[in-house]
Amino acid sequence: MRAVGFHHYLPIDHPESLLDLELPEPTPGPHDLRVRVRAVAVNPVDVKVRAPKPKVEDPPRVLGWDAAGVVEAVGAEVSAFRPGDQVYYAGSIARSGSNAEVHLVDERIAARMPQSLGFADAAALPLTALTAWEGLFERLGVDRDGRDAGRTVLVIGGAGGVGSMVVQLAKVAGLRVVATASREESRAWASALGADLVVDHRAPLRPQLEAAGLRHVELIFNTQSTDAWWDTMVDVVAPLGRIAGIVETKGPIDFGKLMSKSVSFAWELMFTRSLHGTPDMAVQREILTRVAAWVDEGRLRTTRGQHLGQINAANLRAAHAHIESGQAIGKLVLEGWG
Ligand SMILES: NC(=O)c1ccc[n+]([C@@H]2O[C@H](COP(=O)([O-])OP(=O)(O)OC[C@H]3O[C@@H](n4cnc5c(N)ncnc54)[C@H](OP(=O)(O)O)[C@@H]3O)[C@@H](O)[C@H]2O)c1
Repeated sequence: MRAVGFHHYLPIDHPESLLDLELPEPTPGPHDLRVRVRAVAVNPVDVKVRAPKPKVEDPPRVLGWDAAGVVEAVGAEVSAFRPGDQVYYAGSIARSGSNAEVHLVDERIAARMPQSLGFADAAALPLTALTAWEGLFERLGVDRDGRDAGRTVLVIGGAGGVGSMVVQLAKVAGLRVVATASREESRAWASALGADLVVDHRAPLRPQLEAAGLRHVELIFNTQSTDAWWDTMVDVVAPLGRIAGIVETKGPIDFGKLMSKSVSFAWELMFTRSLHGTPDMAVQREILTRVAAWVDEGRLRTTRGQHLGQINAANLRAAHAHIESGQAIGKLVLEGWG
């Protein structure tokens, strides 16, 4: 099968940082779906895992987590899927990635993709939808059926991959959404997804919030650097508020600063369930199934931004370079093999 991978961890402008490869097809385990991959999306996690270091992979390492494709075989204990099903999923950080024509995924973390979307639009969704859903509804405790309607959430990085889903899910839940974006096109994107107010993360937030009549925000979903945004979050969060973070810290942070306001901080890592095989791992299938239904009902839309062409090493190198620029809007997708 065709696949894109690497032996050496190199800067993305190096021609061997990602290579077109021919690899043996994998054999499904008892809970696995064997999926013929039709489209993939690229995430910052691909870039972080590929970051240069003096380590050699042999056999080569294949990246890629977001995928949409067609089930062509199932493991002996699979009960929820059949060959021919069109599925989408974010996979597991502990397994070989989806930048391969044929890929294995545990049935508990995959779902049928939205019927109203093609493969590229569907591949844009799973990883960020899971992160946004778990962060908003599980970690921040927002009621998805509207009992928190009217509360305010600040989404830092509102036009990025994750932010684009947080904004939409928060609107479905009835929240007032303040999103950050710094450029004309990212501001327009966040507004089009439903943000009620867009503020510029390159300028101090407090004056911008106060100008909109907001002294504090009850909830913060930070999709960007936890360290860099810590003091601002401490400042603008409301007493008894909650903060969710999804980016690993680079150094120690002063957790004590949250105490006087009795603010809770929660980590969200969408790979936790699959990495640790938690007993509730299949919740991710339920989440992706619900997301697909909400897309088909018109409550959510795909967050596909740029379509970078077919799945090959050159196009994936371009996708990684774009993510490294920090200016992605929505998701970058690739589709078909060539
Ligand atoms: N824990 C998890 O489960 C999980 C899951 C997914 C992602 N992540 C991590 O979350 C981070 C974001 O992922 P993503 O896919 O949303 O990234 P992304 O799509 O690459 O984010 C790009 C966006 O970030 C905005 N941005 C750039 N610098 C910023 C800053 N200093 N402050 C606020 N916003 C800024 C940009 O807005 P402008 O262009 O308007 O400046 C751009 O729209 C990554 O580090 C990723 O690894 C974690």
